[in-house]
Amino acid sequence: MSDAIRINLATTRKPKPKDQDLTFGTVFTDHMFLSDFQEEKGWYDPRVEPYGPLVLDPASAVLHYAQAVFDGLKAFRGRDGKIRLFRPQKHVERLNNSARRMCIPPLDPELALRSLTTLVDVDRDWVPSMVGTSLYIRPTIVATEPFLGVRPAKQYVYYVILSPVGAYYPEGMNPVKILTEEHHVRAVEGGVGGAKTGANYAASLYAAEEAKHKGYTQVLWLDGRHRRYIDEVGTMNIMVRMGDEVITPPLAGSILAGVTRDSVITLLRDWGYAVVERQLAIDEVMAAADQGTLREMWGTGTAAVISPVGELAFKDRRVAISGGRIGELTQKLYDTIVGIQYGTAPDPHGWTVEV
Ligand code: COI
Repeated sequence: MSDAIRINLATTRKPKPKDQDLTFGTVFTDHMFLSDFQEEKGWYDPRVEPYGPLVLDPASAVLHYAQAVFDGLKAFRGRDGKIRLFRPQKHVERLNNSARRMCIPPLDPELALRSLTTLVDVDRDWVPSMVGTSLYIRPTIVATEPFLGVRPAKQYVYYVILSPVGAYYPEGMNPVKILTEEHHVRAVEGGVGGAKTGANYAASLYAAEEAKHKGYTQVLWLDGRHRRYIDEVGTMNIMVRMGDEVITPPLAGSILAGVTRDSVITLLRDWGYAVVERQLAIDEVMAAADQGTLREMWGTGTAAVISPVGELAFKDRRVAISGGRIGELTQKLYDTIVGIQYGTAPDPHGWTVEV
């Protein structure tokens, strides 16, 4: 991409929702960032434009073979009025890792970071200020080449859109009910589970809908090979506090390298907790519940930050975790991360970037 970002401002502005009315991902701001890729030119014409539809050829490769990646991060308005992004470099790195896995040409990381900060700066009035709200940033790359052969496309568009958001789950920070999924799998070792690509989310819908009909918020995914080891929960990474340890599945290809996952592991180690990244069988979790050593369980993700699991179902059993309430470590992690994001707690690792 050449360096200068061209800015074409919208002539009319949309009304902004009130902070207390925000849900997740339904409202979009006045502008978007765009850049195109062609084999001969590389990434070119980085620009901010008024928000609007993309014009895609119906033969665009993404519409047929799902060659696409995205990422998700947030900007927060602190109590001091400053706007901070949470770990944007890490998100750019992950977007590029996802891109490589899907045979999409990676972005120049410096310009990708600037695409995020520039766009948020242009739409800075859209960053809500109520605690629990933020501006969700969605960088996306899709294959636009009109071609029906199956091979990596030669044309792409990179775009970034912004959405002021509230809680991801209607439950907010209240504990969720989770059903262990025994029949469908989200990803398999060697597949694309480690990439943030739309196909993983499409693959997850059927089981998630079934779980919702049965009264659960989401599913606990088991590994695709043995149907035994826990992988992820819904669209989030999973952590289990058992005995004196916090256990989370390793980044072995089928799960996403969550930025919140990494942040939580770092904080826990800072605080002196033993964090073990290893395969954890669902039977071991149920046995710990029987023995009284299953203390807390939570999901980590950008959208919901930390989501406590209050009830876990596996086969014909249902166990309450932390008495169905928010566990003490779950709450401390949530408070600390949210404090760093809104600038009310120290940021010893330099995770936030001011806009
Ligand atoms: C997250 O941020 O936790 C997610 O992956 C959810 C997102 C796809 C809406």
